[in-house]
Amino acid sequence: MENKIVKIPLLTYMPIITQEKVTHKKDISRLFEDIPQKPYFEDTKRNIALFKANCFDILPNLHENSIDMIFADPPYFLSNGGFTCHAGKKVSVNKGKWDISKGLEENYIFTQRWLRECQRVLTPNGTIWVSGTSHIIYTVGSAMQTLGYKILNDIAWFKVNPPPNLSCRYFTHSTETILWAAKNKDSKHFFNYPLMKKMNNDKQMLSLWSIKAPGSAEKIYGKHPTQKPIELLDRIVKASTRTGDIILDPFSGSATTGIAAHKEGRQYIGIELEEEYLKTSIKRLKDAFRDKERLSGNH
Ligand SMILES: C[S@@+](CC[C@H](N)C(=O)[O-])C[C@H]1O[C@@H](n2cnc3c(N)ncnc32)[C@H](O)[C@@H]1O
Repeated sequence: MENKIVKIPLLTYMPIITQEKVTHKKDISRLFEDIPQKPYFEDTKRNIALFKANCFDILPNLHENSIDMIFADPPYFLSNGGFTCHAGKKVSVNKGKWDISKGLEENYIFTQRWLRECQRVLTPNGTIWVSGTSHIIYTVGSAMQTLGYKILNDIAWFKVNPPPNLSCRYFTHSTETILWAAKNKDSKHFFNYPLMKKMNNDKQMLSLWSIKAPGSAEKIYGKHPTQKPIELLDRIVKASTRTGDIILDPFSGSATTGIAAHKEGRQYIGIELEEEYLKTSIKRLKDAFRDKERLSGNH
């Protein structure tokens, strides 16, 4: 008898806990209720929020174990007075103040700091993707290993249409690496294997992805100097998240991640320092909202 009495309240309480978890996940604004600053842009119907901030001021206030997937395209620290070729012209590789190297040690501290915060907010089975070139990717990989992330793949993104190498002293740079990692060694990460196979003519998808750099059609609302192609983010979102999942990008730029997230019915939190890029992001996002409504015949 006594046992039964104890079991009843426990059983009635269990669904409330489950319900609480579901409710919590559905409403992204609850994830940032501890953040003193309001989002720069928020669409509560579509669960999209953008913060105009330094990610170090936002990440520590986000709830622990709350984010299903993170895509981070951090500063590569490559804006150091070099030159590249753009539209047939020699141009400076100056992406902005945020991209100037602070020296090996400082770059490592910076990288480890944001990766630590990302690890804290990821759900136990959540994953993170980080893009980079040789300027930063070894630092990212080393910091990930030190923090106990489990590296799942190193994707070689072949950029198909790279600009020529002007000095003719190197091979033409045509790849970036994207590290995909789980929160830790105990994570049971999600991988949509069947969909990736289907997208690859029914053959296993390789870790070599041939995707063009974004063309002018993706830049009609403003140019971000390091904008990623939608196709790349689309594949990442489809491979590693489910409908309704929460995606975070701590270096949101022009919100390419947010657009791919929205397109696939995921929720999005983006953090970006520069107002100019946030303005471009809002225009791009609104365009994506309209596109989706048009496709679903809901206008
Ligand atoms: C490599 S770009 C990201 C581009 C983005 N993936 C896209 O497709 O547009 C990095 C962005 O991070 C921003 N950024 C740099 N340091 C930051 C920080 N500490 N917190 C938030 N944003 C930062 C920069 O302004 C820049 O827009």
